[in-house]
Amino acid sequence: MNEQLKVRQATPEDVPEIHSLLEPYADKKIVLRRSKDDILSYIGNFVVAEIGGKICGCGAARHFGNELYEVRSLVVDPSIQKKGVGRAIVEFFIERLNKSESKSWKLFALTMTPGFFISLGFKEVEKEMFPEKIWADCLKCAKFNCCDEKAVLFQADDV
Ligand SMILES: CC(C)(COP(=O)(O)OP(=O)(O)OC[C@H]1O[C@@H](n2cnc3c(N)ncnc32)[C@H](O)[C@@H]1OP(=O)(O)O)[C@@H](O)C(=O)NCCC(=O)NCCS
Repeated sequence: MNEQLKVRQATPEDVPEIHSLLEPYADKKIVLRRSKDDILSYIGNFVVAEIGGKICGCGAARHFGNELYEVRSLVVDPSIQKKGVGRAIVEFFIERLNKSESKSWKLFALTMTPGFFISLGFKEVEKEMFPEKIWADCLKCAKFNCCDEKAVLFQADDV
C-alpha cells in the first residue's frame, strides 16, 4: 500500500467531498445517487481514503442486521484508480469486521465491476441470497427487470 494512503472513518465535514466523488458515478448510474443530507444521515457508515490529506475515495458499509453488511457508495477518484485505494477501503471494512464481536459476518456488494471484488477474495453468488437488499433498493430501481449487476460475497470464514 502507498505509504501516504490512509483510510479513516468519515466525519460530517467530509460530506461535500464525498458527494462530489459520488456524483459523476451517479450520473453514469454506476452507484446510487446520494444527497448531501442522505450522506450526512448515514455518515457513520462512511469511510474516506486520503493521500497527503486529500480525499481520493470513499465507501460505506451498511448493516442489514443478522451480521449481514453491504459495501456501497464505493468510488475512487478517476485520476488515481488502480493504485490500491479501492482495495484499502474494502480491506478497512474487513479488518473492522474481524475485530468486531461478530464471528459469522457476511459482506456483500452488487456491482458492475465484479473483477475488482474477486481480486480481493470475494466470490460471485446469486443476488437472491440477499432479499434484504432486494426489498430495500432493487424493487425501487429502474433496472429491476434488466439488472446488469453481479452479487459478490466475502464472509468471516474466508479470512
Ligand atoms: C472499482 C473501484 C472502486 C476500484 O478501485 P481502485 O482503487 O481503482 O482499485 P485497486 O487499485 O484497489 O484494485 C485492486 C485490485 O482490483 C483490480 N481491479 C481494479 N478495478 C478493476 C476492474 N474494473 N475490473 C477488474 N479488476 C479490477 C486491480 O487490478 C487490483 O488487482 P491486483 O491487486 O490483483 O493487482 C474504482 O475503479 C472505481 O471507483 N470505479 C468506479 C465506481 C465503481 O465501479 N464502484 C464500485 C461500485 S460497487
